[in-house]
Amino acid sequence: MSEIIEIHGGKPLSGEVFVSGAKNAALPIMLASLLTGEEVVLRNVPNLTDVHLSIHLLEHFGSTVELSRNTLRIQTPRLVATEASYSLVKALRASFWVLGPLLARGGAARVALPGGDVIGARPVDIHLEALAQMGADINVKHGVVMASAPQGLRPAEIDFRFPSVGATHQVLMAAARTPGRTVIRGAAREPEVIALAEFLVAIGAEIEGAGQSTIVVHGKESLHGCDFHLIGDRIEAATYILAVIATRGTARIRGFDPVHLGAFLDLISQMGVKVRNEADGITIIDSSSLHPVDASTGPFPDFATDIQALLMAATTVIDGKSSISEQVFEGRFSHVSELARMGAQISVEGRTAHITGVPKLSGAFVEARDIRAGAALCIAGLAAEGLTQIAEPQHLRRGYADLEQKLRALGARVGKKVTDAEDFMFSGC
Ligand code: EPZ
Repeated sequence: MSEIIEIHGGKPLSGEVFVSGAKNAALPIMLASLLTGEEVVLRNVPNLTDVHLSIHLLEHFGSTVELSRNTLRIQTPRLVATEASYSLVKALRASFWVLGPLLARGGAARVALPGGDVIGARPVDIHLEALAQMGADINVKHGVVMASAPQGLRPAEIDFRFPSVGATHQVLMAAARTPGRTVIRGAAREPEVIALAEFLVAIGAEIEGAGQSTIVVHGKESLHGCDFHLIGDRIEAATYILAVIATRGTARIRGFDPVHLGAFLDLISQMGVKVRNEADGITIIDSSSLHPVDASTGPFPDFATDIQALLMAATTVIDGKSSISEQVFEGRFSHVSELARMGAQISVEGRTAHITGVPKLSGAFVEARDIRAGAALCIAGLAAEGLTQIAEPQHLRRGYADLEQKLRALGARVGKKVTDAEDFMFSGC
């Protein structure tokens, strides 16, 4: 049986929606729970495929995990495995980050290399060089990273050549349980890095500078349990914001800190969108008169690569010429050909897409190739005339909890169709 998301577009969105806890904060924090034998309680955990895959991974390493509504209880009295196979890492790339906690707590790890994917080559050299500087003996053979530190890791001063989010997570986790002072220069500054650092402080590490380029970690011999609330998902928030903008609606998006949107907030104001920032979200007051925009992705606080496809979907229906340059992942344009099938006018030159706005897109059968490409097609479908059918929505399930319900809360006409069983569910029409 395969599922298809169906959207009848062309209607301005309005109303109020709450975003879930941040997927990209939940994943590293769940892995970081392996650093302690005591119970970790995480609240505001989103109900997503990637969270379920992470639970499976934790259980593989000996954790008992209990998920009740949005609260997760994790306890790992001892590590019972040191290996993460390719099938585990392939299903969830963030599994690769388990290398740091396994090495710091257990002194050994064998983790399959994640390989490239639809958005780019995604090497892990920065992770491996940093762990080697912390004294890990690392060998890569047959697609597997074999790492050991039988005497334990040692603190180090590490310079990143690029502010990789994953490598920053990896080193923060490893350093938190490595006694002594580790310094990361050129660290990623994303809100999810700050969230992980706050979690590590909650379990007993001392950390200064999270959110800045230099982070200093005073690691401890042992760490303890905690009760921790996850931040709201800024990328999910940006998705609903752009859906509202693309349909020329007005709405309130809540459950997140607007500061976490970084340069995206300036971009939408350049586009002519009037917003009011609030303590727990933003209200889009007016999106009736929009201008094209030039944007380029970069590490936080620059415009986030995870919002690039979403912004592009909205610009396809804004009169004039926009340009969007992707500077983080070399292959993150899989949405372009699908948007073109809906009538979008986009040409790609190297890493830059040139978009000429059209008055209306027309609904079509399209395919989600990755999580944000899928979300971009939802935005386009909401703005388009007629019916849009999005195949392969499992990519969306990785990052968007209760997607259809939340879109319906904004007045969207969206449903899902399970093709083989003629089990057609549609509501909100
Ligand atoms: C995280 O991926 C996010 N994933 C991504 O979100 C996000 O797009 C990305 O950060 C950038 O913000 C999760 O949090 C689970 P990086 P990550 O290491 O950590 C290069 C989504 O849509 N690089 O910051 O893998 C790399 O190839 C996902 O939710 C190296 O060259 O991203 C890329 O070009 C998709 N060597 C750039 O750095 C390394 O060792 C940024 O990658 C590591 C990275």
